[in-house]
Order: sequence, then structure tokens, then C-alpha cells
Amino acid sequence: MQIVILKNSAEVAEYGANIFKKQLQSKPDSVLGLATGSTPVSLYQGLIEANKLGDISFKGVTSFNLDEYLGLAGTHPQSYRYFMNEQLFDHIDIDKANTHVPPGDAENPIQACDGYEEQIQAAGGIDIQLLGIGRNGHIGFNEPSSGLMSRTRVKTLTKATIEDNARFFKEDEYQPHLSITMGIGTILDAKKVVLLATGENKADAILATVEGALTASCPASALQLHKNAVLVIDEAAASKLS
Ligand code: F6R
Repeated sequence: MQIVILKNSAEVAEYGANIFKKQLQSKPDSVLGLATGSTPVSLYQGLIEANKLGDISFKGVTSFNLDEYLGLAGTHPQSYRYFMNEQLFDHIDIDKANTHVPPGDAENPIQACDGYEEQIQAAGGIDIQLLGIGRNGHIGFNEPSSGLMSRTRVKTLTKATIEDNARFFKEDEYQPHLSITMGIGTILDAKKVVLLATGENKADAILATVEGALTASCPASALQLHKNAVLVIDEAAASKLS
């Protein structure tokens, strides 16, 4: 695992965006694994800008998002499909038909999980997977205790994650407690993994990921097994590393 420590979140976003720009310049038909949450927003802004300037194109790109709330259709403002449209897809030259987010409104979610795995396979696998990390070490919605070989499946969110994500929901708004998420095994299959983390509240999770044991208690520690994983973090997130 390669660790890149930068001054602040702006530098992290710029560095991360450059990795994706280079990926698209060398392989314009890349299969991208994408994430939601606060962390990748500035990286996406960098990609939007680069697309507008003509430095990169998404015309040949296929994308797969990590996760989605179970019970929310893509038209719901809190759904991750909606987030991706707003934060990235609506502003770049990607063909939306080639963008995939797990279907939160699937009639048969279990079947939909298998279908998602098949779609990733059919696209040739993920070339580069973007990740954030939860305070509890989750990647995607693979909460602590997730199987290290797990595949896309329905997963219950922990109390900590529900609390952390409550900031995105209005007070009286329904907040799902279930999700569909790529598994840790699915993530490890990506050819390259780029995890971004910023801020002091991620320092414990980064410590466990980098210096802790390989354990299902910290799902991100599974990245220790990956041959081509890079953690791009700021000084605050790195502050507990020895
Ligand atoms: C999002 C995702 C989550 C987030 C994590 C960090 O698709 O899979 O694992 O990356 O919860 O979220 P932020 O970036 O909001 O701190």
C-alpha cells in the first residue's frame, strides 16, 4: 500500500484528480469505480474542469458506483444516483447509459446484487476504484465485520454510519438503514484502488488501515492485500501514524 501525505484537503483532491486524469488519458475507455460522500466532491470538480478544458473525455468511460441506499429510487434527492448526477455526470460528456449505481429500488435486491457483479464482469472489471473511508473503517458500505471476500450484497448500516450520514437528511426525512454495496472482494478485484481521507476524524480509521492488523473489524485494512492501492490523505488524517 502506497501512502501519500499532503498538507490539506485541497491538495488531496488535486492529487486524486490527477490520478484519474492520467488514467483517462492513457485509457479513454476506462472502467471507473466511483464513490459518494463529502470526500470526493472536490476531486469530481477537478475532473469536471479538466473535461471542460478538453484535457480528458468521458465518452468511452463506463462507471460503477460503490453503493446505494436500499429503498431509495434514483430520483430521490438523497439517493447516491441523484448525488452522482448532480456532482459529476450532469457536467461531463459521459453517456449516462454507461453509468451504473446499484438499484436502490430493485424489486428483488438480492438478484440485483448478483446482476451488478455480472455487469462489472461484463465491462471487463474495474480499472480504478475511488474510495472514501468511514470513521469506523468502512469502505463502500462494508461495515466492520464484513467478510473480506464479500461480493455485492445487501448490508445493514451501523449506528455510527447512520449518525454520520444523518447530516445529509432533513430532520423528519426517512433515512434508510439498509444499503446495497459492492463487497470487499469486489473492491479488491479493481486493478487500482485510490482511497482519499481528510480530517482528524479519519485519523483512527487510517491508523487501523495502515498499521493495524488485517481484520474484518476495519474493512479498509483489506487494502493491505491489494498490489496497487494508494492512500491519499492529508496531515490531519495521517496524524496518528507512527
Ligand atoms: C460512499 C461510501 C462511503 C464513504 C464514507 C466516507 O459511496 O461508500 O464509504 O466513502 O462513508 O464518507 P465521507 O466522504 O462523507 O466522509
